[in-house]
Amino acid sequence: MAKNKMLTKNVFQITTVFLVLLFCDVTFSFKFEDDKFLPPENFKDMRTDEIIKFYGYPGEEHKVLTEDGYILSNFRLANPGGYPILLLHGMTATSDSFLLRGPRYDMSFLLWKRGYDVWMWNARGNIYSTEHVNMTYKDEKFFLFSIQEYGQYDTPASIDYILNMTGHTSVITIGHSNGCGNVLTMAALRPEYNDKVLLNIMWGQAVMLKYELFKGMMEMSYSMYTRYMNFDHDQSVMKKGSEKLELVKAFCNPESPLLSSLCLMFMGLVSGPNSNQTDFYAVKRMMTKFPAGSSMNAFKQMMQNMRSGEYKPLSYGVTENMRRYGTREPSPYPLGEVKIPTAMYYSCCNDFLSSKADNKLLKNKLTNVIKFQTISYKKFNHGDFLWAKDGYELLYKDVLVLIHKYTPSKYRSEIPIL
Ligand SMILES: *[C@@H]1O[C@H](CO)[C@@H](O)[C@H](O)[C@H]1NC(C)=O
Ligand SMILES: *[C@@H]1O[C@H](CO)[C@@H](O)[C@H](O)[C@H]1NC(C)=O
Ligand SMILES: *[C@@H]1O[C@H](CO)[C@@H](O)[C@H](O)[C@H]1NC(C)=O
Repeated sequence: MAKNKMLTKNVFQITTVFLVLLFCDVTFSFKFEDDKFLPPENFKDMRTDEIIKFYGYPGEEHKVLTEDGYILSNFRLANPGGYPILLLHGMTATSDSFLLRGPRYDMSFLLWKRGYDVWMWNARGNIYSTEHVNMTYKDEKFFLFSIQEYGQYDTPASIDYILNMTGHTSVITIGHSNGCGNVLTMAALRPEYNDKVLLNIMWGQAVMLKYELFKGMMEMSYSMYTRYMNFDHDQSVMKKGSEKLELVKAFCNPESPLLSSLCLMFMGLVSGPNSNQTDFYAVKRMMTKFPAGSSMNAFKQMMQNMRSGEYKPLSYGVTENMRRYGTREPSPYPLGEVKIPTAMYYSCCNDFLSSKADNKLLKNKLTNVIKFQTISYKKFNHGDFLWAKDGYELLYKDVLVLIHKYTPSKYRSEIPIL
């Protein structure tokens, strides 16, 4: 009897110690520090997973191989078992675009807190995705891609990787700016991917650029760049380690107050002036990783689309077009083939890269737009989708409600959206 009691006591003690250890382990591995301040000059030298870990959240890096041999470095704000969401950054940006303000404010963290498994893409050729099975980043040929490849190869590879890793059969996607084109291109060219995206959300689409408010400025910068900066016909634009990128980085150095304020002014002007939403620390963080590299052909395709007012593959000139496409000019991507439920969010009046008219133009080409919503604050600009001070009230809350509605019930969070 006494022996039995001793045993019970021992088992009890051991269990207690074990539980205490387990508890400590849990509290040690998830030490959320939502209010920690991340100085831009430190943000600069941190990779996406390091930024996530800085705040005490689980950050991971994943190498994704595309069909045409590029190796992307995608990142994950990991919530194994949660419903997967893929975030797609804009032109010459990176996965860091979704981590500019910190865990209390960024959409990435807000999704994680509601149980979602958050993944972030990095475009081939940006500072993270610099590898290929047969080429190096230094090869000119590495940069012979247009924006089409982001949708035709990068995005399907990223989605397949997620589905394979998690056992899910579909994802939800959120794109910003040019990143909105990825899912459209993919679904238009590879119809089998329509079933792999449950809901596609676009923030300030830069797919249709016909009525862009910044058109003249874009034309001028493009022609100046090709004439005076790119006289050596470099196929890459602002790639990692290039002199041109160093020049911009010097201009936007967060440690120099004068230069960084000039840089901030410039960013304000490019995004849309006089928004009261600008979080300067967030912009400074963004500028330490922007521009992050792309290709000449990607810019060329965007410029051609801006001029023609269509969303089309890159035109190479008649001879090469005949060889590639069998026509003198490429035909627009068949956007009518996109079956994915699509939600579009845009600024009515102050997004210089995504005008209301262009949002309407795109909406009319799509067949399954389930939401077409303007942001209530009229001066909301292109960057505000990522760093607005009132981002939650103006945009994210509505997006969270929409996502909740589409999420299969067993993956829905019980936490109310207030
Ligand atoms: C890489 O090179 C090998 C050998 O030449 C070739 O078989 C393969 O198709 C290439 N892969 C890609 C993605 O270009
Ligand atoms: C899926 O995962 C398995 C192992 O988990 C791996 O062998 C396979 O190559 C993966 N497929 C793709 C398309 O990533
Ligand atoms: C920005 O301006 C709007 C409209 O005037 C106002 O409602 C909002 O509170 C302001 N936000 C900030 C962060 O100043």
